[in-house]
Amino acid sequence: METLNPTLRWKVEDLDFSRIAVDRIRNDETLFYLASSASFIESGSDLYTRNLIDFFHGDEEVVQWLLEHWEPEELQHGRALRAYVAHVWPEFDWEPAFRSFLGEYQALCKVELLAPSRGLEMSARCVVETGTATYYRALARAATEPVFVDLADRIANDEVSHYKHFLRFFKRYREHERLGRLRILRTVSSRTWELRSEDADCAIRHIAKARDPARADDPAFIRSMGSRMSRTVSRNLSPSTTLKMLMRPLELPSALQAALLFPVEQFMQRFFLR
Ligand SMILES: [Fe+2]
Ligand SMILES: [Fe+2]
Repeated sequence: METLNPTLRWKVEDLDFSRIAVDRIRNDETLFYLASSASFIESGSDLYTRNLIDFFHGDEEVVQWLLEHWEPEELQHGRALRAYVAHVWPEFDWEPAFRSFLGEYQALCKVELLAPSRGLEMSARCVVETGTATYYRALARAATEPVFVDLADRIANDEVSHYKHFLRFFKRYREHERLGRLRILRTVSSRTWELRSEDADCAIRHIAKARDPARADDPAFIRSMGSRMSRTVSRNLSPSTTLKMLMRPLELPSALQAALLFPVEQFMQRFFLR
């Protein structure tokens, strides 16, 4: 079990589930969907790891980090969120719902979705980790239940650390591939647009199938749950931190970064508030 892995900075057992006032939050359907969908997406991380390992074949430093740190940490995020869901909503049959989710999700994680070069893929990974760090930070701010806040903060810290590793690898490849700002900007912005709601919608549908079969095929229900979840996150974003992380691979002058803050803020509000 990965809990024995000495490289993990925290363990699922560090979370004190006995502190949860289950009766107070059991009826919070949005929290249920937020925690479950995140547990699905994180638990499907090994699909991405395989893609990335193939892509970086021969770069031992990267491959070793992905295998020994990145993947075990992402999978632990999935296990911790799953344990949280099991504690508060024990009637939810996680495993079969997750299997059914994976069936569809696998098709979304094809190798062809990777960027055209290793350096550009590293810049794209910075975007993805910025997105997850932003998401969990916002969840930690949105939540009122202290154990969930603790969990979301721990995950956000891991995502920031992933970002820093990808940024370091990116800098190495940028030299080597002589990547110009324009190509990096193109990758960063296209990957930012791709951080769509597709993964989340896929998770919501499969959770609903198990939780609420009568409404699982109702697009209006899926849409409204998606917007409730997005609203929870969008109200608690911190755009300037996110912007700084997104812009770092570009190394833009700070005046230009400051000028970009407003449009990026608008974009983030629109993205998270569907
Ligand atoms: Fe994660
Ligand atoms: Fe991550």
